[in-house]
Amino acid sequence: MKLTLKVWRQKSANDKGRLETYQLDNVSEHMSFLEMMDVLNEQLISEGQEPVAFDHDCREGICGMCSMHINGEPHGPDRGVTTCQLHMRKFKDGDTIYVEPFRAKGFPIIKDLVVDRSAFDRIQHAGGFVSVNTSGNTQDANAIPIPKDDADKAFDAATCIGCGACVAACKNASAMLFVSAKVSQFALLPQGKVEAKQRVLNMVEQMDKEGFGNCTNTGACEVECPKGISLENIARMNREFLKAACSAE
Ligand code: SF4
Ligand code: FES
Repeated sequence: MKLTLKVWRQKSANDKGRLETYQLDNVSEHMSFLEMMDVLNEQLISEGQEPVAFDHDCREGICGMCSMHINGEPHGPDRGVTTCQLHMRKFKDGDTIYVEPFRAKGFPIIKDLVVDRSAFDRIQHAGGFVSVNTSGNTQDANAIPIPKDDADKAFDAATCIGCGACVAACKNASAMLFVSAKVSQFALLPQGKVEAKQRVLNMVEQMDKEGFGNCTNTGACEVECPKGISLENIARMNREFLKAACSAE
């Protein structure tokens, strides 16, 4: 395939940034999107130009690093996949593809397509954990009966990989799908009940501090989420938050 790429180039956080145009003449439909970006970078290096900076790690849909806006959509046109799982067969010979970083106040651009998503780490640190007695008499987690429906919903919430596509898709740059997944995976399980109130209060407070917007039920986050995290989690987080806020008064 021959492709025209319009790629966002930005030297540093303070640089204004602009779209640069590149031509690729020999892209296989079997390549992943990141492999296509590798080919572009090899071409740029051989021409003495600086390669495009982009995040990636596992390249198999697990780590959530490959944050890119492709033709206006986080992780591109396919559904239920990350950028590293997106294949070039989703595009046509002669296509022009726009590649930009995730854009949100809470995700400042570091360079080219790399954004700083440490806000998500700080939200996790605020409450995304359980405290466990490790003194030697810890109860085996499997010895605690959990209704199958709750276990399934908790597992579904725990599949969130923290990629940030929900924020990038949202007109309000809201992080509520991410935060609600992290709250839900504990709220549904007995192990998460002990710190439940403080967890949701602290995580929502940190989310607000980081500059993310509010949810207005548009649902773009659910559509673009590569892991199919449901909006139901946002409703659960709101209930958890109200319960915690009312009992704290
Ligand atoms: S909720 Fe979905 S889109 Fe948002 S961070 Fe988690 S996996 Fe990514
Ligand atoms: S590189 Fe890990 S999810 Fe894409």
